[in-house]
Amino acid sequence: MDKFMIDGGERLYGKLTAQSAKNTVLPLLAAAVLTDEQVKIRGVPTINDVENMLHILREVGCKIERQNDVAIIDSSNAVSHEIPARLTKELRSSVFMLGSVLTRFHRAKISYPGGCDIGLRPIDLHLLGLKRLGVKIVEKDGFIDCIAEKLTGAEILLDFPSVGATENIILAGVKAEGTTVIRNAAKEPEIVDLQNFLNAMGGKIRGAGGGTIVIEGVKRLHGVDYRPIGDRIEVGTYLIATASCGGEIEIDGVPPENIAALLHKLRENGCKIHTENDKIVLRSDGRLKSVDLVETMPFPGFPTDMQAQYSALCCTAKGTTLVVENLFETRYRYAAELKRMGADITVRGRTAMIRGVNALHGACVTAGDLRGGAALVVAGLKAEGRSTVLDLSHIDRGYADFEGKLRSLGAKIRRVKI
Ligand code: UD1
Repeated sequence: MDKFMIDGGERLYGKLTAQSAKNTVLPLLAAAVLTDEQVKIRGVPTINDVENMLHILREVGCKIERQNDVAIIDSSNAVSHEIPARLTKELRSSVFMLGSVLTRFHRAKISYPGGCDIGLRPIDLHLLGLKRLGVKIVEKDGFIDCIAEKLTGAEILLDFPSVGATENIILAGVKAEGTTVIRNAAKEPEIVDLQNFLNAMGGKIRGAGGGTIVIEGVKRLHGVDYRPIGDRIEVGTYLIATASCGGEIEIDGVPPENIAALLHKLRENGCKIHTENDKIVLRSDGRLKSVDLVETMPFPGFPTDMQAQYSALCCTAKGTTLVVENLFETRYRYAAELKRMGADITVRGRTAMIRGVNALHGACVTAGDLRGGAALVVAGLKAEGRSTVLDLSHIDRGYADFEGKLRSLGAKIRRVKI
């Protein structure tokens, strides 16, 4: 397993362009089996989650062509409704295949999905939604077997605006007979992108971005050539790194409103931020003051996927920050690693109290999940001396060329193959 060696203390200066959003590309890839025409997705990042999703598509019989960052999916010869357990264990987003494979084959069988170990992550809302559309579900021996002779539109009220459940219901509803209405739907920009993508294939979906989504089922979807939105979590990570280390960064490719909650906090921390269309420019002197409270919420609240990286920044901000994680139960495992670098963090359940220290020092730490791993890199860039971040497999799930992009900003970071 590879590791990063980081010599901290450098300020970061430069320009970056966002990769396409991981959390859009994954459901879009799943959606490719909804048509037997060719689906072309541009700007596909080279990250492990995407590679795993492409493996899954190959397993169900799709032909995949990769031309640099373009993925061309031809599912005209797709045959299988079953996703092998070894692949679903690697990737939680394999659960999206339920909605799309069901639509295509009237049956879908997957084992319980894996992904980052950041909490219980049940899929009851996904299954409830599918049942409302007429799907019969049998859960046995760790497998979920879904059968639907016919998918029929229905009204679905989600108890919680789950991103994945909203997406799965859209995928199952887009070709269902009649109209599906999702209330208390997730409002994330990635949902809007899925709507736009499916509508570009001939779907009739409206309302994404708001709490109610209306899907009028269509008989068929056609091929599409599509560029997904930029990755707000990737962009947020580089903004946080620059804010913490000091310097100036210009990032293109994500509308500022998609990460407004983070920008708001960073301004409160003392960063100067200028936005123009899809461009964000952040300047920081590296001496930040803490904000009192950061609470993760569904969009447009502060994203849980930014919580760890932002907490890393709080470690050296002047004052105390209270962080509350409302979405996932065990998303503070990185805190023990940050403590090895000299951070002062107390975690109790969903709350972390972070008292800013004057400086972090280099240490050998281990990445336990994707965003927690990114947080350790952010801390290592700020820390005095050398840090080693072990087990990059998690970070490689979500950041394309993380070290290359950070080096282009002036960071001293290199990957060592073990
Ligand atoms: C997606 C994102 C992930 C992000 C999360 C929250 C993708 C591929 N992943 O994950 O990066 O951290 O949104 O913004 O897009 N829940 C249930 N039952 C369900 C489904 C969810 O109780 O059936 C709960 C979860 O345990 C969690 C909350 O709902 O507490 C939010 O989860 P959800 O929005 O579904 O996250 P994901 O779609 O898994």
